[in-house]
Amino acid sequence: EFNFLIVIICSYVIGSIPSGLVLGKGIWHVDLREHGSKNIGATNAWRTLGKFPGFVIFLADLIKGLLGVYLGMTLVGSAMAMILGGILAIVGHSASIFLKLKGGKGVATGLGVLIMLMPKVSVCVFFIWLIIVMISKYVSLASIVAAAFVPILAYAFDMPMEFVIFGIVAAIFVIYRHKTNIVRLLNGNENKIKAGHR
Ligand code: G3P
Repeated sequence: EFNFLIVIICSYVIGSIPSGLVLGKGIWHVDLREHGSKNIGATNAWRTLGKFPGFVIFLADLIKGLLGVYLGMTLVGSAMAMILGGILAIVGHSASIFLKLKGGKGVATGLGVLIMLMPKVSVCVFFIWLIIVMISKYVSLASIVAAAFVPILAYAFDMPMEFVIFGIVAAIFVIYRHKTNIVRLLNGNENKIKAGHR
């Protein structure tokens, strides 16, 4: 169907917009790819630019996820289209058409998708993430564990099967994107979160 194709293309292009790079360079004159973890996400923005830039970039990336699902909801209206719009926004963020298919790890954008698809799960997952960040100071560890909880909580909250499957796919994707973080965590040299350290 034509509208389905529009959802896929638009969600992917919206997801592809590298907020961290555009805002980092445009406002703070810093290329996040040259600092900290070299990632373009909110965590590295928080780390290298400070709390406010980190928060702004977190919101910008989260909105891309909201929009992806929203497009599926308004243009097609099925659960499948919403899920696809969301996944394409996450994929766009991580394999951006504007960055030669490079990009971020899909955490903030994934949270945006989750808020739209499964609000209750998103709240639980956010608190799981926050608690692990506060205790361990490792954002990557928190993101990995939170991602793993998405399908588990989707199942526990009795969500439809396609939402549980979305959770499994999204979790595998986000965890895979953290492979360099996983190596650092295992080696004991992962960065602990601290704002504004370039
Ligand atoms: O949102 C990505 C986060 O989980 C890890 O970011 O910059 O520490 O690799 P970073």
